[in-house]
Amino acid sequence: MANTLTITDNRTGKSYELPIEHDTVRAMDLRKIKVTDDEFGMMTYDPAFMNTASCISKITYIDGDKGILRYRGYPIDQLAEKSSHLEVAYLLMHGELPTAPQLKEWSDAIMSHSDVFDQLQKGLSGFRQDAHPMGMLASLVAALSTYYPESRKISDPANRQLQIHRLIAKMPTLGAWCFRQRKGLAPVAPEKGLSYTGNFLQMLYKAEGQKYSPNPVLERALDILFILHADHEQNCSTSAMRAIGSSQADPYVSMSGALSALYGPLHGGANEQVLVMLKEIGSKDHIPAFIKEVKEGKGEKRLMGFGHRVYKNYDPRAKIIKQTADQVFEVTGRNPLLDIALELERIALQDEYFVKRKLYPNVDFYSGIIYQAMGFPPEFFTVLFAIPRAAGWLVQWLEMVTDPEQKIARPRQIYLGSPDRNYVPLNQRA
Ligand code: CMC
Repeated sequence: MANTLTITDNRTGKSYELPIEHDTVRAMDLRKIKVTDDEFGMMTYDPAFMNTASCISKITYIDGDKGILRYRGYPIDQLAEKSSHLEVAYLLMHGELPTAPQLKEWSDAIMSHSDVFDQLQKGLSGFRQDAHPMGMLASLVAALSTYYPESRKISDPANRQLQIHRLIAKMPTLGAWCFRQRKGLAPVAPEKGLSYTGNFLQMLYKAEGQKYSPNPVLERALDILFILHADHEQNCSTSAMRAIGSSQADPYVSMSGALSALYGPLHGGANEQVLVMLKEIGSKDHIPAFIKEVKEGKGEKRLMGFGHRVYKNYDPRAKIIKQTADQVFEVTGRNPLLDIALELERIALQDEYFVKRKLYPNVDFYSGIIYQAMGFPPEFFTVLFAIPRAAGWLVQWLEMVTDPEQKIARPRQIYLGSPDRNYVPLNQRA
């Protein structure tokens, strides 16, 4: 069997043989298909990248039809059960699970960078008190670039690692700043002896002059949620990080762009919108009317936390989150919105509209219910997605900058605008 694809151009009768590798043909191989020699050649048209691989990656594997997610080959449920977020960040970065000394060295290196310059706090006070935390976080991460001008040396491996440590370390600190700014509270300094999530919780909730010990069940639950959010291959924000980074911009401004992409309600912003939706539904009796509105809305109104570009089956992360919810509720008490969510899922999964389109709960459907039970306001939920995703964004960025095949990201277009015409002076226009 030849591993090639033969294309016949019926405009010319010519045939072309294209190599197939990994069930894929190279779009550039189509360029030789032309009617005349002076033509540009054939392109592919793929708005929203529905069927285009933009890179070769060895980080995260998803089988959307089977509902499988693996980081570096390890199934997500095993990592969620047995690992920690910092260990997963190491695995993503280095491709292998660390030994005990490697994990200690990595964790110490990350935690040693968790402080953020006091000067940046002055910028924080310039935000309105009701500023959205994702807008603040994207701005603060971009501002960090001005403190580390050497981060532009992206071809220096040691320099890249330093910026990666800094960014993974500083995200919880900046996230906690945004949380406290909205409450009118001064930032709390990081505490080095705690875990990544334990330190984050103390920076959020510690009262001035008092000791704070994170609840171990909530600390672990947050760690599991962080593991589930650490990477998800070429999604919108990761593609933004790669695209911005491909211009050789530094990782801080690249990540600020990724944060902006994540903020949108169709991506990471969906977890906030799920809570808004569940509150709007209000009670189980209103679910049928809500589902009817979604179905008749022809895409205008969506069931937030449902559907996925890649998963056409139950999102494996949503399953784990549902299990984690029970552990959290034992500490915090049950979130009454869970009953509405469970019933909404039950009804939707039996409804022909959702069945036909293979729309299942995604990672955002249940995460907000846990976050709310843990005391987080809905507008903070996307920050809780962004902090662990920093690891994935940075590993994907590193893979991109070290891939000799990658160049500045620059798609083509099909121009259907006006043909060439002459400028008309203002006084001669009809
Ligand atoms: N509720 C109702 N209808 C939906 C939904 C939904 N949540 N999602 C998709 N559809 C319909 C859509 O209207 C379309 O119907 P039709 O074929 O009749 O036009 C069909 O299903 C296919 O949808 P699509 O918009 O072409 O699919 P997509 O791959 O472009 O979009 C998505 C994927 C995640 C943006 C979409 O499913 C959605 O908007 N979901 C709600 C927002 C959400 O939960 N986002 C979080 C995604 S997971 C975490 C993350 O990425 O951050």
